[in-house]
Amino acid sequence: MQILNGKEAAQAIKDSLKIKVAQLASQGKEVPHLAAILVGNNGASETYVAAKVKACEEVGFKSTLIRAEENITAQKLLETIRELNSDPDVDGILVQLPLPKHISEDEVINAIDPGKDVDGFHPSNVGRMVLGQSTFVPATPYGIMLLLEHYKVETKGKHAVVIGRSNIVGRPMSILLSGNSNPGNCTVTLCHSHTPNLKELCLEADIIVAALGRAEFVTAHMVKDGAVVIDVGITRVEDATKKSGFKLKGDVAYDEVAPKCSFITPVPGGVGPMTIAALMKNTFKSCAQKHYEEAEGE
Ligand code: GUN
Repeated sequence: MQILNGKEAAQAIKDSLKIKVAQLASQGKEVPHLAAILVGNNGASETYVAAKVKACEEVGFKSTLIRAEENITAQKLLETIRELNSDPDVDGILVQLPLPKHISEDEVINAIDPGKDVDGFHPSNVGRMVLGQSTFVPATPYGIMLLLEHYKVETKGKHAVVIGRSNIVGRPMSILLSGNSNPGNCTVTLCHSHTPNLKELCLEADIIVAALGRAEFVTAHMVKDGAVVIDVGITRVEDATKKSGFKLKGDVAYDEVAPKCSFITPVPGGVGPMTIAALMKNTFKSCAQKHYEEAEGE
Protein backbone atom coordinates (compact mmCIF):
# COMPACT_ATOMS: atom_id res chain seq x y z
CA MET A 1 0.00 0.00 0.00
CA GLN A 2 1.30 3.42 -0.97
CA ILE A 3 0.02 6.65 0.51
CA LEU A 4 -0.83 9.33 -2.04
CA ASN A 5 0.77 12.21 -0.18
CA GLY A 6 -1.14 15.29 -1.28
CA LYS A 7 0.92 17.59 0.87
CA GLU A 8 4.09 16.55 -0.92
CA ALA A 9 2.61 16.62 -4.44
CA ALA A 10 0.98 20.00 -3.78
CA GLN A 11 4.29 21.38 -2.55
CA ALA A 12 5.99 20.29 -5.78
CA ILE A 13 3.32 22.13 -7.81
CA LYS A 14 3.58 25.24 -5.65
CA ASP A 15 7.39 25.20 -5.83
CA SER A 16 7.24 25.11 -9.63
CA LEU A 17 4.69 27.97 -9.71
CA LYS A 18 6.81 29.98 -7.30
CA ILE A 19 9.77 29.80 -9.68
CA LYS A 20 7.62 30.91 -12.64
CA VAL A 21 6.13 33.80 -10.67
CA ALA A 22 9.56 34.95 -9.46
CA GLN A 23 10.72 35.01 -13.09
CA LEU A 24 7.72 37.12 -14.12
CA ALA A 25 8.24 39.50 -11.21
CA SER A 26 11.94 39.91 -12.01
CA GLN A 27 10.98 40.88 -15.57
CA GLY A 28 8.57 43.50 -14.20
CA LYS A 29 5.57 41.56 -15.49
CA GLU A 30 2.17 41.12 -13.87
CA VAL A 31 1.97 38.41 -11.22
CA PRO A 32 -1.29 36.46 -10.80
CA HIS A 33 -3.94 38.05 -8.58
CA LEU A 34 -6.71 36.01 -6.93
CA ALA A 35 -9.75 37.72 -5.40
CA ALA A 36 -11.74 35.61 -2.93
CA ILE A 37 -15.17 36.52 -1.58
CA LEU A 38 -16.21 35.07 1.76
CA VAL A 39 -19.80 35.60 2.89
CA GLY A 40 -20.66 35.12 6.57
CA ASN A 41 -18.71 33.28 9.25
CA ASN A 42 -18.92 29.57 8.37
CA GLY A 43 -15.99 28.02 10.25
CA ALA A 44 -15.00 25.56 7.53
CA SER A 45 -15.24 28.22 4.80
CA GLU A 46 -13.07 30.55 6.89
CA THR A 47 -10.42 27.82 7.10
CA TYR A 48 -10.52 27.03 3.37
CA VAL A 49 -10.33 30.65 2.28
CA ALA A 50 -7.48 31.34 4.72
CA ALA A 51 -5.59 28.39 3.23
CA LYS A 52 -6.14 29.74 -0.30
CA VAL A 53 -4.88 33.21 0.67
CA LYS A 54 -1.86 31.66 2.42
CA ALA A 55 -1.04 29.59 -0.67
CA CYS A 56 -1.14 32.77 -2.79
CA GLU A 57 1.44 34.34 -0.46
CA GLU A 58 3.59 31.21 -0.65
CA VAL A 59 3.80 31.19 -4.44
CA GLY A 60 4.08 34.96 -4.83
CA PHE A 61 0.57 35.74 -6.12
CA LYS A 62 -1.35 38.81 -5.10
CA SER A 63 -4.56 38.08 -3.25
CA THR A 64 -7.52 40.09 -2.09
CA LEU A 65 -9.96 38.75 0.48
CA ILE A 66 -13.36 40.43 0.39
CA ARG A 67 -15.50 39.64 3.42
CA ALA A 68 -19.23 40.20 3.37
CA GLU A 69 -21.80 39.97 6.14
CA GLU A 70 -24.10 36.94 6.21
CA ASN A 71 -27.05 39.26 5.40
CA ILE A 72 -25.50 40.86 2.30
CA THR A 73 -28.09 41.23 -0.47
CA ALA A 74 -27.71 39.26 -3.68
CA GLN A 75 -27.68 42.56 -5.54
CA LYS A 76 -24.72 43.87 -3.54
CA LEU A 77 -22.80 40.62 -3.97
CA LEU A 78 -23.42 40.66 -7.72
CA GLU A 79 -22.22 44.26 -7.82
CA THR A 80 -18.97 43.24 -6.10
CA ILE A 81 -18.49 40.45 -8.66
CA ARG A 82 -19.09 42.85 -11.55
CA GLU A 83 -16.45 45.21 -10.13
CA LEU A 84 -13.93 42.36 -9.96
CA ASN A 85 -14.90 41.24 -13.48
CA SER A 86 -14.01 44.66 -14.86
CA ASP A 87 -10.85 45.15 -12.77
CA PRO A 88 -7.95 44.46 -15.15
CA ASP A 89 -5.66 43.75 -12.20
CA VAL A 90 -7.72 40.72 -11.06
CA ASP A 91 -7.04 37.37 -12.79
CA GLY A 92 -9.12 34.97 -10.70
CA ILE A 93 -12.37 35.36 -8.78
CA LEU A 94 -13.78 32.83 -6.37
CA VAL A 95 -16.85 33.02 -4.21
CA GLN A 96 -16.55 30.50 -1.38
CA LEU A 97 -19.53 28.15 -1.21
CA PRO A 98 -21.93 27.46 0.41
CA LEU A 99 -23.69 30.83 0.35
CA PRO A 100 -26.49 31.87 2.72
CA LYS A 101 -29.89 30.48 1.72
CA HIS A 102 -31.29 33.83 0.52
CA ILE A 103 -28.66 34.04 -2.26
CA SER A 104 -28.86 31.90 -5.39
CA GLU A 105 -25.51 30.16 -5.95
CA ASP A 106 -26.39 29.69 -9.61
CA GLU A 107 -26.98 33.41 -10.08
CA VAL A 108 -23.68 34.24 -8.38
CA ILE A 109 -21.68 31.68 -10.38
CA ASN A 110 -23.26 32.84 -13.62
CA ALA A 111 -22.21 36.43 -12.84
CA ILE A 112 -18.48 35.61 -12.72
CA ASP A 113 -16.55 36.35 -15.92
CA PRO A 114 -15.80 32.85 -17.30
CA GLY A 115 -12.29 34.09 -18.11
CA LYS A 116 -11.70 34.72 -14.39
CA ASP A 117 -13.72 31.76 -13.06
CA VAL A 118 -10.76 29.87 -11.57
CA ASP A 119 -13.17 27.55 -9.69
CA GLY A 120 -14.43 26.36 -13.08
CA PHE A 121 -18.05 26.49 -11.91
CA HIS A 122 -19.46 28.77 -14.65
CA PRO A 123 -21.71 26.91 -17.13
CA SER A 124 -19.48 27.79 -20.08
CA ASN A 125 -16.42 26.38 -18.30
CA VAL A 126 -18.32 23.26 -17.25
CA GLY A 127 -19.40 22.85 -20.88
CA ARG A 128 -15.83 23.21 -22.09
CA MET A 129 -14.68 20.60 -19.58
CA VAL A 130 -17.36 18.15 -20.73
CA LEU A 131 -16.24 18.69 -24.33
CA GLY A 132 -12.58 18.16 -23.40
CA GLN A 133 -11.66 21.75 -24.31
CA SER A 134 -9.12 23.91 -22.47
CA THR A 135 -10.81 25.46 -19.43
CA PHE A 136 -10.57 25.98 -15.70
CA VAL A 137 -11.23 22.54 -14.22
CA PRO A 138 -12.83 22.65 -10.73
CA ALA A 139 -10.05 22.56 -8.18
CA THR A 140 -10.87 19.39 -6.24
CA PRO A 141 -11.26 16.99 -9.19
CA TYR A 142 -8.38 18.74 -10.96
CA GLY A 143 -6.24 18.27 -7.84
CA ILE A 144 -7.13 14.57 -7.78
CA MET A 145 -6.11 14.19 -11.43
CA LEU A 146 -2.82 15.93 -10.65
CA LEU A 147 -2.27 13.60 -7.68
CA LEU A 148 -2.91 10.49 -9.83
CA GLU A 149 -0.50 11.93 -12.40
CA HIS A 150 2.15 12.74 -9.79
CA TYR A 151 2.17 9.17 -8.47
CA LYS A 152 1.78 7.67 -11.97
CA VAL A 153 -1.32 5.73 -10.93
CA GLU A 154 -2.56 3.71 -13.92
CA THR A 155 -6.17 4.61 -14.73
CA LYS A 156 -6.59 3.48 -18.35
CA GLY A 157 -9.24 0.79 -18.70
CA LYS A 158 -9.98 0.77 -14.98
CA HIS A 159 -13.43 0.80 -13.42
CA ALA A 160 -13.82 3.94 -11.31
CA VAL A 161 -16.70 4.32 -8.89
CA VAL A 162 -17.38 7.91 -7.84
CA ILE A 163 -19.63 8.30 -4.79
CA GLY A 164 -21.40 11.65 -4.77
CA ARG A 165 -22.72 13.74 -7.66
CA SER A 166 -22.05 17.31 -6.48
CA ASN A 167 -21.28 19.97 -9.06
CA ILE A 168 -18.05 20.73 -7.18
CA VAL A 169 -16.56 17.24 -6.97
CA GLY A 170 -18.45 14.08 -7.98
CA ARG A 171 -19.91 15.05 -11.33
CA PRO A 172 -16.81 16.77 -12.74
CA MET A 173 -14.69 13.89 -11.37
CA SER A 174 -16.78 11.38 -13.31
CA ILE A 175 -16.31 13.41 -16.50
CA LEU A 176 -12.55 13.78 -16.07
CA LEU A 177 -11.94 10.11 -15.26
CA SER A 178 -13.96 9.03 -18.27
CA GLY A 179 -12.16 11.48 -20.58
CA ASN A 180 -9.77 10.44 -23.32
CA SER A 181 -6.73 11.56 -21.36
CA ASN A 182 -4.06 10.38 -18.99
CA PRO A 183 -5.08 10.13 -16.18
CA GLY A 184 -8.49 9.16 -17.53
CA ASN A 185 -9.85 6.53 -19.89
CA CYS A 186 -11.74 4.90 -17.03
CA THR A 187 -15.12 3.26 -17.18
CA VAL A 188 -17.00 5.33 -14.64
CA THR A 189 -19.98 4.58 -12.42
CA LEU A 190 -21.37 7.68 -10.69
CA CYS A 191 -23.22 6.70 -7.50
CA HIS A 192 -25.48 8.81 -5.30
CA SER A 193 -28.04 8.58 -2.54
CA HIS A 194 -30.49 6.66 -4.77
CA THR A 195 -28.00 4.00 -5.85
CA PRO A 196 -29.37 0.74 -4.40
CA ASN A 197 -26.36 -1.55 -4.84
CA LEU A 198 -23.55 0.74 -3.75
CA LYS A 199 -21.61 -1.91 -1.87
CA GLU A 200 -21.62 -4.32 -4.85
CA LEU A 201 -20.52 -1.56 -7.23
CA CYS A 202 -17.71 -0.49 -4.89
CA LEU A 203 -16.52 -4.09 -4.64
CA GLU A 204 -16.11 -4.09 -8.44
CA ALA A 205 -14.17 -0.83 -8.45
CA ASP A 206 -10.48 -0.54 -9.27
CA ILE A 207 -10.66 3.11 -8.20
CA ILE A 208 -13.05 4.57 -5.62
CA VAL A 209 -13.50 8.32 -5.22
CA ALA A 210 -15.50 8.95 -2.04
CA ALA A 211 -17.08 12.40 -2.14
CA LEU A 212 -20.38 12.14 -0.29
CA GLY A 213 -19.50 13.97 2.92
CA ARG A 214 -20.26 11.22 5.46
CA ALA A 215 -17.50 10.38 7.91
CA GLU A 216 -16.03 6.87 7.48
CA PHE A 217 -18.80 5.75 5.11
CA VAL A 218 -16.55 3.52 2.99
CA THR A 219 -15.57 0.47 5.05
CA ALA A 220 -13.24 -2.45 4.34
CA HIS A 221 -16.05 -4.78 3.23
CA MET A 222 -16.83 -2.37 0.34
CA VAL A 223 -13.29 -2.34 -1.09
CA LYS A 224 -11.61 -5.01 -3.18
CA ASP A 225 -7.97 -5.93 -2.70
CA GLY A 226 -5.58 -3.69 -4.60
CA ALA A 227 -8.06 -0.83 -5.13
CA VAL A 228 -7.05 2.82 -5.38
CA VAL A 229 -9.04 4.85 -2.84
CA ILE A 230 -9.37 8.64 -3.03
CA ASP A 231 -10.98 10.25 -0.01
CA VAL A 232 -12.51 13.69 -0.57
CA GLY A 233 -14.35 13.87 2.77
CA ILE A 234 -13.48 16.40 5.45
CA THR A 235 -16.19 16.15 8.08
CA ARG A 236 -15.57 17.89 11.37
CA VAL A 237 -16.15 15.46 14.22
CA GLU A 238 -16.14 16.64 17.84
CA ASP A 239 -12.96 15.75 19.72
CA ALA A 240 -12.38 17.25 23.15
CA THR A 241 -8.68 16.32 23.05
CA LYS A 242 -8.09 18.78 20.18
CA LYS A 243 -7.51 22.48 20.74
CA SER A 244 -10.03 23.31 18.01
CA GLY A 245 -12.62 20.99 19.61
CA PHE A 246 -12.88 18.81 16.50
CA LYS A 247 -10.91 16.52 14.24
CA LEU A 248 -11.24 15.96 10.52
CA LYS A 249 -12.63 12.64 9.31
CA GLY A 250 -12.63 11.43 5.74
CA ASP A 251 -15.40 9.54 3.94
CA VAL A 252 -13.25 6.40 4.23
CA ALA A 253 -12.63 4.33 7.37
CA TYR A 254 -8.90 4.70 6.76
CA ASP A 255 -7.46 2.26 9.31
CA GLU A 256 -9.44 -0.73 8.05
CA VAL A 257 -9.46 0.20 4.33
CA ALA A 258 -5.79 1.20 3.88
CA PRO A 259 -4.33 -2.33 4.23
CA LYS A 260 -6.45 -3.50 1.26
CA CYS A 261 -5.40 -0.68 -1.09
CA SER A 262 -2.68 -0.29 -3.68
CA PHE A 263 -2.91 3.50 -3.16
CA ILE A 264 -4.91 5.60 -0.70
CA THR A 265 -5.14 9.29 0.22
CA PRO A 266 -4.97 10.24 3.90
CA VAL A 267 -7.21 12.85 5.56
CA PRO A 268 -5.86 15.38 6.21
CA GLY A 269 -2.91 15.67 3.83
CA GLY A 270 -4.42 14.01 0.75
CA VAL A 271 -6.94 15.72 -1.51
CA GLY A 272 -7.18 18.96 0.53
CA PRO A 273 -3.72 20.37 -0.30
CA MET A 274 -4.14 19.27 -3.94
CA THR A 275 -7.33 21.35 -4.22
CA ILE A 276 -5.38 24.44 -3.20
CA ALA A 277 -2.50 23.66 -5.58
CA ALA A 278 -4.99 23.16 -8.45
CA LEU A 279 -6.58 26.52 -7.69
CA MET A 280 -3.14 28.13 -7.83
CA LYS A 281 -2.53 26.48 -11.22
CA ASN A 282 -5.86 27.80 -12.53
CA THR A 283 -5.07 31.30 -11.29
CA PHE A 284 -1.66 31.21 -12.96
CA LYS A 285 -3.27 29.98 -16.16
CA SER A 286 -5.78 32.84 -16.11
CA CYS A 287 -2.99 35.39 -15.68
CA ALA A 288 -0.85 33.74 -18.36
CA GLN A 289 -3.72 33.72 -20.87
CA LYS A 290 -4.34 37.40 -20.26
CA HIS A 291 -0.82 38.73 -20.13
CA TYR A 292 1.60 36.36 -21.85
CA GLU A 293 0.44 34.77 -25.06
CA GLU A 294 3.54 32.63 -25.21
CA ALA A 295 3.19 31.14 -21.70
CA GLU A 296 1.89 27.63 -21.62
CA GLY A 297 -1.67 27.53 -20.30
CA GLU A 298 -1.45 23.90 -19.22
N1 GUN B 1 -16.73 25.06 -1.20
C1 GUN B 1 -16.26 23.80 -1.13
N2 GUN B 1 -15.35 23.58 -2.10
C2 GUN B 1 -15.25 24.73 -2.79
C3 GUN B 1 -14.46 25.13 -3.91
O1 GUN B 1 -13.68 24.37 -4.49
N3 GUN B 1 -14.64 26.42 -4.32
C4 GUN B 1 -15.51 27.27 -3.73
N4 GUN B 1 -15.62 28.51 -4.21
N5 GUN B 1 -16.25 26.93 -2.69
C5 GUN B 1 -16.12 25.66 -2.23
